[in-house]
Amino acid sequence: LCMVIMGPPGAGKGTQAPAIQKKFNVAHLATGDMLRAAVAAQTSYGVEAKKLMDAGALVPDEIVVGLIEENLNNNPQCANGFILDGFPRNVAQAEKLDTMLKAMNKPLNNAIELVVDDTLLVDRICGRLVHPASGRSYHKIFNPPKVPMTDDVTGEPLIQRSDDNEDTLKNRLQAFHDQTSPVAKYYKEQGIWYGVDAAQTPEAVWDSINAIFDKTL
Ligand code: AP5
Ligand code: ZN
Repeated sequence: LCMVIMGPPGAGKGTQAPAIQKKFNVAHLATGDMLRAAVAAQTSYGVEAKKLMDAGALVPDEIVVGLIEENLNNNPQCANGFILDGFPRNVAQAEKLDTMLKAMNKPLNNAIELVVDDTLLVDRICGRLVHPASGRSYHKIFNPPKVPMTDDVTGEPLIQRSDDNEDTLKNRLQAFHDQTSPVAKYYKEQGIWYGVDAAQTPEAVWDSINAIFDKTL
């Protein structure tokens, strides 16, 4: 399985991707998680990336393309396939990805977009809790951890992302509509785009994703 999962901030990409990863035993490559790891490690580009992420703007293409390329070439899990989460985020990234995948002879099976109205996303984003090391996400109300503020798997503390506030969300949504929506059109033209109603419960979204796999794999 080689696929893209896309959708606006809070659509449920990071919620659904781990289940897909488990089902197909493929890599889950999330550029947002990779960037947050670089920020935490205080790498040279981490400092610059943090400013842009906290402003809700995209980081430069060469950084994220480099992260994806590095993983596609060196992450052993990718031999079995991969789910790209949060990448590509503009048409230039989508074109770069096509070039890389062509060279590897690994075309995308599908690009699944989690479609959900902006109005539902404020509550999802502002109530989100994450386990930084794994990228696992919870929600204070919609998907609470078993013990408050504690990761179910490791018992480690959960945090709120520094870009999860209403002001930054406005800019993230703007970036999505301006720069990422054209990527949906790009994949529609390739005939590999599938939309899922992501306003449903997480379980219903999972069923809809599997219905697409049944049709396309
Ligand atoms: P990134 O980390 O990719 O963030 P994002 O796209 O804004 O998406 P989120 O992680 O916020 O949402 P999600 O869809 O994963 O939602 P989740 O499943 O957690 O990127 C962050 C930043 O990094 C960007 O702004 C940019 O600066 C930079 N960046 C990253 N990639 C880049 C790239 N390729 N190019 C340039 N810059 C890049 O769910 C959200 C919440 O809702 C959770 O609490 C969850 O429990 C809950 N929830 C999930 N599904 C449901 C449901 N069905 N019903 C109710 N609640 C639900
Ligand atoms: Zn995410």
